Amino acid sequence: MAELSKMDKLISLCKRRGFIFPSSEIYGGYSAIYDFGPLGVELSNNIKKAWWRMFVRERDDMVGLDSSILMSPKIWEASGHVQNFSDPLVDCKKCHQRFRADHLLESAGLKPGYDKDQPLDTKGLKCPECGGELTESRQFNLMFKTQVGSMEGSTSEAYLRPETAGGIFVNYKNVQQTMRKKLPFGIGQIGKAFRNEITVENYIFRVREFEQMEIEYFIKPDNWEKHFEELLNLMKKWCAYLGLKEANLVYHEIADEERAFYSKRTIDIEYNYPFGQKELYGLAYRTDYDLGRHQKFSGEDLTYLDPETNEKTLPHVIEPSFGLQRTILAVLSEAFEEVKGGRSTTTESNKEEEMVLRLPYDLAPVKIAIFPLSKKEPLLGIAEDIAKDLCPFWNVQYDETGSVGKRYRRQDEIGTPYCITVDFDTPNDGKVTVRDRDTMEQERVEVKELRNFFQKKLIY
Ligand code: GAP
Repeated sequence: MAELSKMDKLISLCKRRGFIFPSSEIYGGYSAIYDFGPLGVELSNNIKKAWWRMFVRERDDMVGLDSSILMSPKIWEASGHVQNFSDPLVDCKKCHQRFRADHLLESAGLKPGYDKDQPLDTKGLKCPECGGELTESRQFNLMFKTQVGSMEGSTSEAYLRPETAGGIFVNYKNVQQTMRKKLPFGIGQIGKAFRNEITVENYIFRVREFEQMEIEYFIKPDNWEKHFEELLNLMKKWCAYLGLKEANLVYHEIADEERAFYSKRTIDIEYNYPFGQKELYGLAYRTDYDLGRHQKFSGEDLTYLDPETNEKTLPHVIEPSFGLQRTILAVLSEAFEEVKGGRSTTTESNKEEEMVLRLPYDLAPVKIAIFPLSKKEPLLGIAEDIAKDLCPFWNVQYDETGSVGKRYRRQDEIGTPYCITVDFDTPNDGKVTVRDRDTMEQERVEVKELRNFFQKKLIY
């Protein structure tokens, strides 16, 4: 039997251990959309909390926002999404599957053109599924349309937001004035975005419903290079925090002809996923395009009056943009390790292969697992009391089934940093054994000291 790829093993682990489920699975799944299970939602919340801490709370030049998903459709006209947020689409005339023409060209080693007004030259290409003939390429808008209100018709047509950024731009003035912010300052937001992608690929890498963590950093245009470098360094710090190895990251400077016309500099941060090197995050200097367009379309004055110089400027913007699903996929790929022959010396289970998720301890969905060696009193009661004492501070899992070796393996697979064993000495000496996931060192700790012990080890 062919060996499973790393990606297959990761997908299977995510399903088996409650990280990620296909959406609407009992109805056969739905349209490249996924749900986070009990462990997935913990991991995702830990990532979002850490991002908010690093990019918003720990900085005095950033504030937060939570804007709505449904907004005035005029926003997407002003931003250019109605006109330009599209990908080139081709259909197979035989099997009727749809593909992104630029992706087909790239797989054939050809460079697609970047002019959206021109159909891509796909002559000579065949359907990758059935070898059939392909249609000429045409642009397909990725925004999901919906109706707002009870009147059907174009007046009530709206879009599910394709990015969180739009909500930040239209609230720029509200935020600047209510928070009395001076340039430079940033607004951070985490939230859902929706794109009707033509092709969906690589598990949660390209999906139709996802979350973004975005910052719009408002500046005066002089000195933009300095702000750009600072934000790039902050993004690098974030990638290191996630445990992503420098060797797996590529900082791809986007060439002039590939960049949006209004951007003076864009860097894609790419990650070496198990299926290849692909975009993880983006950092773009967008000039004053966004506020300029919203000022024009809304008729509102969005200029900034400098309280010291009395000068008026239309702020320019640098945008670091992060996808949550791609972050989770990168973090899981980096953390996933198979240990041939087994790693634990105490395990009684077979030692063919063990899986360890070496997640940064801050991000692990379960922080502490508690194992009583017997299901009877007094060990059971002691273990339950420990769980009750620790659960207000950390996500704790209680496991009383199987050998200790099996229980360690179950926790290693989901990346739990610490396991506590309540053994037959515990009722006498008041101590338990705490085992560290990575060093596998075990130490005896007094039950009444456990909270202090973990407060020193686990920051979050
Ligand atoms: N506001 C700028 C913006 O939205 P983008 O490069 O289109 O830029 C930003 O998207 C980030 O959102 C990407 O770097 C990626 O992490 C994530 N992203 C975009 N499309 C996605 C999709 N279909 N599925 C999952 N993540 C996606």
